[in-house]
Amino acid sequence: MGEGINDYTQFCVDLRRHMWLAGVDQELRRLIWQIAVMGKYISAKIYESNRKLAGFKNIYGEEQLTLDRGADEILKNQLQYSGFVRDYASEEQDSVMRIGKGDEKFIVTADPLDGSSLVDTNLSIGTIIGIHKDSVFDEGRNTLVAALYITYGPLITMVYSAGKGTHEFVLNREGEYVLSEENIVLKDKGSIYSPGGMHKDWTPEHLQYIEFLENSGYKLRYSGGFVPDINQVLIKKGGLFTYPALKNSPRGKLRLLFELQPMSFIIEQAGGRATDGYRDILSVPVTELGQRSPVYIGSRFEVDKVKDYLKWDNFL
Ligand code: F6P
Repeated sequence: MGEGINDYTQFCVDLRRHMWLAGVDQELRRLIWQIAVMGKYISAKIYESNRKLAGFKNIYGEEQLTLDRGADEILKNQLQYSGFVRDYASEEQDSVMRIGKGDEKFIVTADPLDGSSLVDTNLSIGTIIGIHKDSVFDEGRNTLVAALYITYGPLITMVYSAGKGTHEFVLNREGEYVLSEENIVLKDKGSIYSPGGMHKDWTPEHLQYIEFLENSGYKLRYSGGFVPDINQVLIKKGGLFTYPALKNSPRGKLRLLFELQPMSFIIEQAGGRATDGYRDILSVPVTELGQRSPVYIGSRFEVDKVKDYLKWDNFL
């Protein structure tokens, strides 16, 4: 904990106090806090599901909501009453939904339960949130004012940035999010890599880049969940996550608006970088909700190095 809020207090700093001391705009900090609280309801839903995934019928023969849909309902319903959210865009919906009166400040994007197919394995999964002003159809750099993610693992943690650094909180037994690490800063270079997609589908350029990492001694650390995979780069203070362009899917797999923009905002605020191989992720304009993009995200050295391997000619 460097020069920070805990230096001035003798007790745990909870999320609301942290945001207040950090000077986060009042409406924004209320919204972030409300979303963090929804993480508790979502985790309860995961627990209730008893690791059953989706699409099953209950004893009355009724189709039950998938966990993803359940998490989406929690977010949408609660945000409707927040008083701060005009529109809600979710990976679970095909269009932006007007949930406010129309004059509220923020638009919220959500990947309500990323990696939910890992629920049965009891690996960590997460919720990813972006908070925008004005519109989502623009470059993330112009619209994002805050981002956060919640990790449901052995512990529930919440990482947020409102443009004043990146901070991690742990949900304690009293149900409070308590500051565990303030102003997280990535090292210039890490030692782990998380490569998405299959070798056979990688382009020769990407393969060479991965070989460079392997030959340089990077350790493979891939869980298959974007939230825990990014979280380990952040908490270990460096390394790389990538889901590249694939031969038969040149835009890769991950969604720009729901997954990549919020994580790029958080990683940049921790001194890291995120690129599609050619442009910063936050400089890629969003033109459609489900837009996908290749991604290389993590510490500065690994992300900058990508440019030595990829070729503009191959860019779609
Ligand atoms: O987008 C959903 C997701 O599960 C991410 O959380 C994760 O990074 C990625 O897909 C994993 O994809 P794959 O199963 O192809 O490795």
